[in-house]
Amino acid sequence: VIADTRWGAYIHVPWCRRRCPYCAFYVEVDRGTDWRAFADAVVAEVDLRRPSFAGPPSTVFFGGGTPSRMPPPLFRRLVTHLNPIVGAEVSAEINPEDVTPDTLAALRDAGITRASVGLQTMDNRFAPLLNRACTIERASEVAREVAEAGFESWSADVMFALPGQTLGDLDADLDRLLAADPPHVSLYGLTIEPGTPFERGVARGALVPVDDDTWREMYDHVRARLAERGYEQYEVSNFARPGHRSRHNRLYWTDRPYLGVGPSAHGLLPDGTRYANIADARRYLTHADPTDVVEPFEPRARAIDLLISNLRHIEGFDIDHCVRVTGLAPRSAAVAALIRAGALDQVGATLRLTPAGFPIADGVAGRLADALAPAST
Ligand SMILES: C[S@@+](CC[C@H](N)C(=O)[O-])C[C@H]1O[C@@H](n2cnc3c(N)ncnc32)[C@H](O)[C@@H]1O
Ligand code: SF4
Repeated sequence: VIADTRWGAYIHVPWCRRRCPYCAFYVEVDRGTDWRAFADAVVAEVDLRRPSFAGPPSTVFFGGGTPSRMPPPLFRRLVTHLNPIVGAEVSAEINPEDVTPDTLAALRDAGITRASVGLQTMDNRFAPLLNRACTIERASEVAREVAEAGFESWSADVMFALPGQTLGDLDADLDRLLAADPPHVSLYGLTIEPGTPFERGVARGALVPVDDDTWREMYDHVRARLAERGYEQYEVSNFARPGHRSRHNRLYWTDRPYLGVGPSAHGLLPDGTRYANIADARRYLTHADPTDVVEPFEPRARAIDLLISNLRHIEGFDIDHCVRVTGLAPRSAAVAALIRAGALDQVGATLRLTPAGFPIADGVAGRLADALAPAST
């Protein structure tokens, strides 16, 4: 048996041109960021954590925040320092307002193989609501520029279920999205996050979130339209043409460890320890060790993580793997009830969501988590 040694590296780049009113990620408004100091701190953190991981990473992901604000030479420096395997997938999230054909070419030359472009909406009525810093015309143009820049793959990130959006609005947005012909699409329903201006807007009655039935109709509509155009749904919110699934995210969904670096980044070490970094860019730049929280391996917490992440992916939840790692498995009565309810399928030791189960993935994972018990072997 050859041990699986794949792991991924995630770098959180927290600065954005401005803060979007729906976003609860750890971000800072970019007011003259010292990018060189940031790259130095990332290199120092990689050196600190790297000894826990064997061999080179098989994927690298620059997420944010807005990584595309970082100068391309620093991407080159960080990719070189991480030294991933030959043929590694190296992704970066890109906001349309930051890039030109020249910067896209520079990112590709710096070792980025996959661009994840935050389009969010291509509807001129909803872009101001989301306070996105780019116009819809720019979003369409950047999709073309990215397609022409020669990345191995790229993804368009879009949101639906925007306050006031109708099924017809969404359909028109999908037309504009599909005209750009992205090989991969991430489509997230907007969630109203605690502490955001959107949450306050909803509380005041100024914003009305779409109701549950409309949400469900929209989700099913998205899935049907993307399937019709040859996209395979391989995760609750992710769709890809053959050969274009995100390899980095697959590591999260299949329980591989990952090295998270940068302010607020999380990581999972090969021994099962989880950690989270301080969500404070200024302190991050000056701290020798940016760790904020360390959670040693704990079987139940780990089994719940496995349920939540694995069930989202079409490869599903492997009961035997969960038992090997944690000694726990969901009771068969709970599994049987969810199968009878049409939300789950079981083949051998693998549980998979059915198409009807996808929209309620978190609820199904929650039911199975409540039913975790020591596995009789
Ligand atoms: C945090 S952003 C980072 C990338 C880039 N700055 C951008 O805005 O596209 C990554 C993704 O998070 C998702 N996101 C952020 N806030 C969300 C919310 N409240 N509900 C649903 N998705 C959200 C968006 O789909 C976005 O593509
Ligand atoms: S959605 Fe993206 S651009 Fe907007 S604040 Fe969040 S990370 Fe920044």
